[in-house]
Amino acid sequence: MVTTCRVCGASSWQNVISFGDVPLANAFLDQPGPEGAYPLELISCRECRLLSLTAVVDPRVLYRTYSYVTSESETMTRHMQEVVRLCAERVDSGRLVVEVGSNTGNQLQLFQAAGHPVLGVDPARNLAAIAAERGVPTLAEYFGSDIAGAIAAVHGRASLILGRHVFAHIDDLTDVLAGVQALLTDDGLFAIEVPYAVDMVNTVAFDTIYHEHLSYFLISTLDRLFTRHGLRTVDVRRLAVHGGSVLVTAARSDSRWEASERVGELIAAEKDQGFLTDDRYEQFAARVRTTCTELTELVRKEVADGKRVAGYGASAKGTTLLNICGLTRAEVEFCTDTTPQKQGRFTPGTHIPIVAPEDVEEQPDLRLMLAWNYAEEILRREAAYLDAGGGFIIPVPEPVVHTRQGVGR
Ligand code: TMP
Ligand code: ZN
Repeated sequence: MVTTCRVCGASSWQNVISFGDVPLANAFLDQPGPEGAYPLELISCRECRLLSLTAVVDPRVLYRTYSYVTSESETMTRHMQEVVRLCAERVDSGRLVVEVGSNTGNQLQLFQAAGHPVLGVDPARNLAAIAAERGVPTLAEYFGSDIAGAIAAVHGRASLILGRHVFAHIDDLTDVLAGVQALLTDDGLFAIEVPYAVDMVNTVAFDTIYHEHLSYFLISTLDRLFTRHGLRTVDVRRLAVHGGSVLVTAARSDSRWEASERVGELIAAEKDQGFLTDDRYEQFAARVRTTCTELTELVRKEVADGKRVAGYGASAKGTTLLNICGLTRAEVEFCTDTTPQKQGRFTPGTHIPIVAPEDVEEQPDLRLMLAWNYAEEILRREAAYLDAGGGFIIPVPEPVVHTRQGVGR
């Protein structure tokens, strides 16, 4: 249970929204049956405006064997190339790159191709083994001050420490930042990619709220965190990936780097747009409730009219969405997913079977897009399904149906 803020240490919280008990987003089941559920509740720190969950699920439960495999979709591959390009503006080739939460090593492979020695750190033993097979050296460990010291002793210090979509998963940020201090060269950079809280609120992306995501950050919140730990924000880039993320780069306070104007601009915009007030989060909670009700009504109405509905992508977000909106197998017949590890299994809480896309014999009338962060790519790829009269329900910010006739509600 979170009592003091992991960023600023304060303990005055606004209750934003409570979804009740929800199963873990990536806990796909081999057989439908009883399973664990944990409170899913979002709070906002009145001092630094960190958005946090109240419950911290033991990382040993979440990550030792992890079924989330970084997508190899076109969108994600293009994005990872962009990350290499942005980092290359400041880090010379030949310099060591360490990635925290390196998953199956796709991102580090691109850094290798750009001429960097690399090292991955990821606690999931199943994934570290896949990465090693690909030629990406990977330690199956949780990153922190101990492991960082050990890496520095063996490999030397790193010019870039990267964490893509991992920082929001970590409870003890103090130990991770101590690790960064131990491992980073004097002019090295610490770059993290996190979902941007502003984008989550503006696009009503409530399904990105799940137990793995302990923190939802503003730039002003991160800046405050870095300052507390001897670092300084030097750049921020907004990126479309995962529904709106930011790549935030920090350096040692006393390093040579100057901050780009983007940092101050975004911090000012957060304040101007009300992100430092309770009101903004109350509005968000109200919009979440409306979106959820509208989605459930839309799906139930289609099913009542005799339409067959299936999910597209058994994403982690999908687990939140289906559970929160109360959509089950009665409405959603099955979900397709391209990840072999998910196929043949069942969605957490809602027990919808997951099948390989190529195994679907008769296409359903409507597909609920649970991987809406890839909407553009999917709509392009599924042109034949749309031509044949199919439709996609895109759930957020407000549910709409995409067909060849256009976008409707
Ligand atoms: P992610 O957004 O967390 O990467 O998860 C997306 C999930 O959706 C992942 O399990 C792969 C799946 N997926 C498909 O099944 N088909 C697709 O075309 C795409 C892009 C993703
Ligand atoms: Zn705080």
